[in-house]
Amino acid sequence: MDRTFIDGTLVERTRETEIATVEFDQNSAEFAADPWSKYEELRSNCPVAHTDSHGGFWLVSKYDDVVKVARDDTTFSSCPTTVIPDSGVYNLIPLQSDPPDLQRYREALLPFFTPKAIASYAPRIREFTNTCIDAFVDRGHCELVTELANPVPSMTALEFIGFDPRDWHDFAGPMHRLSYFADGSVERAQALADLEKMDAVIATAINDRRKKPAGDAITALVNYKKDGVMFSDQELHGLVKMLLFGGLDTTMAAISNTLLYLSEHPDARQRLIDDPGLIPLAVEEFLRFEAPVHAFARNVTTDTQVGDQKIRAGEKVYMLWASANRDPEKFENPDEVVLDRRPNRHLTFGVGGHRCLGAMLARMEMRIMLEQVLCRIPDFHIDPDTVRHPITVTIIWGRTSLPATFTPAGC
Ligand code: HEM
Repeated sequence: MDRTFIDGTLVERTRETEIATVEFDQNSAEFAADPWSKYEELRSNCPVAHTDSHGGFWLVSKYDDVVKVARDDTTFSSCPTTVIPDSGVYNLIPLQSDPPDLQRYREALLPFFTPKAIASYAPRIREFTNTCIDAFVDRGHCELVTELANPVPSMTALEFIGFDPRDWHDFAGPMHRLSYFADGSVERAQALADLEKMDAVIATAINDRRKKPAGDAITALVNYKKDGVMFSDQELHGLVKMLLFGGLDTTMAAISNTLLYLSEHPDARQRLIDDPGLIPLAVEEFLRFEAPVHAFARNVTTDTQVGDQKIRAGEKVYMLWASANRDPEKFENPDEVVLDRRPNRHLTFGVGGHRCLGAMLARMEMRIMLEQVLCRIPDFHIDPDTVRHPITVTIIWGRTSLPATFTPAGC
């Protein structure tokens, strides 16, 4: 075995197999403190590397390699799960499915994400945002995660799916714990127990809509028929559950990361205040800069090769979206936020057959929240000492607490 340290990364190459092995644990506090330099090391020293953590898996850190894996649904399967370590949450449809089922499921979900459907959610998103800001604006201080970043995406998703947006706590709480606490922690165990209760709520809603249809996504899915075939109860359950998992914590994390950046960079904030037309481009850049979902996994179905590494059937590959977004071969000055970056083909929403269905919705939620924050509490200041940063990177990368002070503006 050859062992070398390259820029602080231990790289081991076994002569027989030529496997590049690195130390990497995305659940460790050390990694969460600075994932970006670890990604830089990986990209520079061994862009496709194996780690023994969590039962062993391959890390793919460069843009082109990530795209290659994500686009090949045959060699790289999304079943049974796309997270490492296995979170124990299954039947997420279409996330944990492969073609041809994947296309069948996505076709059924597409009507909720057409440009027309997305535009129709806009007034309610603004209303939810303003209701949240109304609740704290006179106080002069707030906690931007629990009072804005968490409720707005949660209420938005709940409403179009067909749940009461006022119940957002019941849904967001368990997901939040699942996203932010590592495998084996008390909080994670509690989240899994709470998710069983959520499963019961989903099952009840599906049964209710069969008897009493409503104008929501659950009703549309219950009645969906393709070539005369309807979804089974289990499929319906998985589709609704995935809309919940997709819609809540991801967008919350994205807007929390953005608000922190703007508090720390008053010039960038002022530029957006002076030119709100720049907000959509800036949203894209914030999504690139700190991808709220750092990575998803695939399960290798046949022996293959990624980069210079031979990977065997049965192994797992971890596509590091967050690292690909900082690949200097694709993005000039990747570690800088360039508000008007163009083009900006980041991989935050994935790529290929499983590309995020909610991307346009997430972008719109972020734009509306930013517009309202910059208009109503433009001088918000987040005290860096009180920010709670991720202590582990399980699935989601976002700030969990952003206490802020501000002077209410008259708009
Ligand atoms: C900033 C916010 C968001 C981020 C970063 C994000 C990220 C992602 C990523 C990376 C994937 C690809 C998964 C893969 O390749 O295995 C995905 C899939 C998905 N997302 Fe999102 N997402 C966001 C918001 C949303 C929203 C708001 C919804 C809907 C309410 C949503 C619904 C979905 C669904 C249904 C899938 C599964 C697609 C499939 O497997 O075919 N996402 N998301």
